[in-house]
Amino acid sequence: MQTTNTKRGQFTTKIGIIMASAGSAVGLGNIWRFPYETGENGGAAFILIYLACVLFIGMPIVISEFVIGRRGKVNTSGAFRVLAPGTPWYMVGMLGVLTGIIILGYYTVVAGWTLEYIMQAAIGGFAGKSPADFQSSFVEFSSHSFRPLLWLAIFMFMTHYIVVSGVEKGIERYSKIMMPMLLVIMLVLVGCSISLPGASKGLEFLLKPDFSKVDGSVLMSAMGQAFFSLSIGMGCLCTYSSYFKRDVNLARTALSVVSLDTLVAILAGLIIFPAAFSVNIQPDTGPSLIFVTLPNVFQQAFGSMPILSWVFSVMFYLLLSVAALTSTISLHEVVTAYLKEEFKISRKKAAWIVTLFCLGLGVIASLSLGEWEEAKVFGMSFFDFSDYITTKIMMPIGGILISVFVGWWMDKKDLKDEMMSSGELKKSFFKVFAFVLKYVVPLGIAILFINGMGWM
Ligand code: TRP
Repeated sequence: MQTTNTKRGQFTTKIGIIMASAGSAVGLGNIWRFPYETGENGGAAFILIYLACVLFIGMPIVISEFVIGRRGKVNTSGAFRVLAPGTPWYMVGMLGVLTGIIILGYYTVVAGWTLEYIMQAAIGGFAGKSPADFQSSFVEFSSHSFRPLLWLAIFMFMTHYIVVSGVEKGIERYSKIMMPMLLVIMLVLVGCSISLPGASKGLEFLLKPDFSKVDGSVLMSAMGQAFFSLSIGMGCLCTYSSYFKRDVNLARTALSVVSLDTLVAILAGLIIFPAAFSVNIQPDTGPSLIFVTLPNVFQQAFGSMPILSWVFSVMFYLLLSVAALTSTISLHEVVTAYLKEEFKISRKKAAWIVTLFCLGLGVIASLSLGEWEEAKVFGMSFFDFSDYITTKIMMPIGGILISVFVGWWMDKKDLKDEMMSSGELKKSFFKVFAFVLKYVVPLGIAILFINGMGWM
């Protein structure tokens, strides 16, 4: 007999809640995507714009999604239907579900790469290689037509397994232990990286802004990165907060999640750029950046102590893949919860549909970097296209709609009630929040979007 269908799960502890939400936010977006976007968009100036996007657009949307989810207590689309019955708002949730499906497909490809790198690190595959070797072995691996697909499938099934075993048991337990470990190991790597010869040029790239190269596309990339990294604009945090209890302070939880996410991204930057400049890897090499740069750090920083190099590289890739796993779980959960609750099917069946469909998308995304390189979608590989359409179009649109929904449509009293459910919250904070949500967020996104598309 299946009882899980009627009883919704709940996260049990407050720290577990923060960790699970932060687990969704912290992932490849911070450690893989943030450095290469920063590298491609000119460094420090991009980071400052990114931070502004996180603060003035990201943070209010995180709170809004928490509000929608906890008030609705169902999947994203259902939550809109509960809060705005008889209106087309539920379609915002459906847009989010679609976004989640596309992201899960190509995200898992990269997550699969991290498994290959755990294995390479474990068998000592980095030893004695030069930066050029790392470059060529990455290209060879990622464009191979079988190996990445195998890792992709393994990763997708790991995600599937945890999603099926349920939110409380699966997500919370893993996040609570692994996140702090990841932070510690990253701090050590920052130390290693900035002590490499010639690292100061990398620090300069990170810290000295040059606004002369900032244009509409840099702005839009910064905004897209904020959406991607914080897991917002597609109902991911709505789905998680539907499992929150009422005594959780939503604003404070949002602040913790956003701070942690930003901290990890900055640490990733501090690891990658000093190391990349030290071994003359161009910062704008794109998605391969961390996979080519990091093995050098492990090699050089611990050169005289191979055992340390081994321990750190294995640990790092292991934690990176766990960080990716807590993110793929959250993406998968959005779609699974939607199918399960809207179509009244079992959690298991819903999860299978998601797993197999996204696996298919992942296979296409992976092959689009090798075997199927010639096939282009709007001039991009399917991999790049999936990234582009989600981060730069679908999530910003979702973000506008979510902020308009909570800022303009939702009853002020309900909003206040949700935000103050745990008691204390300063009046002035609420006022500023409501203002930013109503005006700054939707207008800000719209301006960056229109400008970035070159329509203005
Ligand atoms: N934020 C995660 C990362 O940085 C990825 C992710 C998880 C995500 N859930 C999401 C991105 C929802 C967009 C939307 O790796």
